[in-house]
Amino acid sequence: MIDPYAKIARWYDAEFEGASADIRSFVGRNVGPRVLVLGCGTGRVCRGFPPDRQVVGLDLSAPMIAAARARGGDYQVADMRHFDFGVFDEVIIPNGSFAFLRSRADRAACLAACARAAAVLTIDVPMPDYVLLGQPHTPERPAWQGVVEGVDVQRTREVFREPVAQRLRLVDRYYAGSEVVVSELVLHLFTRDEMEWMLEAAGFYVDEAWGDHAGGAVREGCDRLLVRAMRF
Ligand SMILES: C[S@@+](CC[C@H](N)C(=O)[O-])C[C@H]1O[C@@H](n2cnc3c(N)ncnc32)[C@H](O)[C@@H]1O
Repeated sequence: MIDPYAKIARWYDAEFEGASADIRSFVGRNVGPRVLVLGCGTGRVCRGFPPDRQVVGLDLSAPMIAAARARGGDYQVADMRHFDFGVFDEVIIPNGSFAFLRSRADRAACLAACARAAAVLTIDVPMPDYVLLGQPHTPERPAWQGVVEGVDVQRTREVFREPVAQRLRLVDRYYAGSEVVVSELVLHLFTRDEMEWMLEAAGFYVDEAWGDHAGGAVREGCDRLLVRAMRF
């Protein structure tokens, strides 16, 4: 599997470390001390848990895990489709990481591994923007800028939308000094119904669902699809 984060891991924390609304939501609803975070990236969500929680983070990207380990903590380079690190109270798949799984077989394999690992599973993916989905392409636009190790870095984003395939292709370009690095992220877009039957097929039922990290309802125009699933 190609790792789209390998080239950009060095800039990830500068842009995303400050995001905390999802962490408050995960910590506030956490059901037990043993927590496994899939697609943990550089460990932003793992670090948000209080020290009495035993948090393990897993990610496919060795450079992202190296950045996480540099700050301390228990991190594993592994694929969320096939993992076995024992039994946990809860598995969390934050910030769209589950949407990186491209096929139904990949998603089923991941959910089967989750069902072996914990009785509670929390998934956070982006809600499709049904208005924008009618627009197949958004040209390159500025998305972020910052300074990393003394170098000005700018990220732009170009978006390709494939509504029938339920897919987004995000082309991010990082301009850092004289360097230009291109990273392409392909995300599956989930409907609520699809998320529910997929979880049910894997032996979970959806106990609660939210449309944002503040606990708002799943509603027209909401930007997240957050589900708390329980094993049958
Ligand atoms: C949008 S980032 C989120 C990172 C982190 N959870 C955060 O919120 O900052 C998505 C992460 O999912 C990871 N990922 C994608 N496919 C994966 C897979 N099959 N197994 C494990 N990690 C995966 C990527 O390497 C990346 O670090």
